[in-house]
Amino acid sequence: MYFPTEQAQSLSEAVNSRHSCRSFRSTPIPNDQIRQIFTLAQQTPSWCNTQPWQVQFLTGAATRDFASELTRHAASDPSGNPDLQFPAEYVGEFGQRRRSSGRALFAAVGLARDDLAGRARQSALNYEFFGAPHVAIISVPKSLNDYALVDAGGYVSTLMLIATSFGLGTIAQASIARYSPFVRDYFRMNEQQRVVCAVSFGYADETNPANAFRTDRSSIDDVVIGLSQ
Ligand SMILES: Cc1cc2nc3c(=O)[nH]c(=O)nc-3n(C[C@H](O)[C@H](O)[C@H](O)COP(=O)(O)O)c2cc1C
Repeated sequence: MYFPTEQAQSLSEAVNSRHSCRSFRSTPIPNDQIRQIFTLAQQTPSWCNTQPWQVQFLTGAATRDFASELTRHAASDPSGNPDLQFPAEYVGEFGQRRRSSGRALFAAVGLARDDLAGRARQSALNYEFFGAPHVAIISVPKSLNDYALVDAGGYVSTLMLIATSFGLGTIAQASIARYSPFVRDYFRMNEQQRVVCAVSFGYADETNPANAFRTDRSSIDDVVIGLSQ
């Protein structure tokens, strides 16, 4: 299936322009466009074509209600209980990349290194989905084990790139998975589902400094072994 729109970006343009959006306008996306995005994302490949992703999608007031409840819950239980183990530490280059993207965000929004309260407030915006009018909660069944997570990662990436090509802002958010049991209860999800992450959607608020920085990437020569120059 193909949804031709004259405005849609090419894949390379979408890959180049996608970035994590951390401030959205409240204007909702037309429902037919949301349906197109999810229809195209459904083309994501998966192991044995199992298509293990399940999506709980919220719009408008329902997004804001969930955000309020999640914010309240996060404040009452800061450590949480994620279905997928968060890293205990980020060693070597992983720590360095993590710090550098964190610093870029905090510098963009004008937070000093030692402003721990300000940083905590910025992080808590995750639970408000950065003001997005729509959020998709992505989960997979436990029974399919770890490759279902690989499939879910492909799905999340495809979803974000399609939305970008339609001129929308997106962000993947593992932070909400810290509260997996709460999320499962809220949506009355099957106990056998593993909560992977959220994807928030909407029109980016381009005036917000949180959207003004870009992260960098390692050279392919550090990553791809055996490729000639
Ligand atoms: C699976 C996944 C989970 C993420 N979780 C969060 C999150 O909880 N909060 C957040 O602000 N960013 C989150 N991000 C965004 C990453 O920080 C971001 O993709 C990375 O720094 C690269 O920046 P870019 O997306 O702007 O290219 C997540 C990204 C992925 C792929």
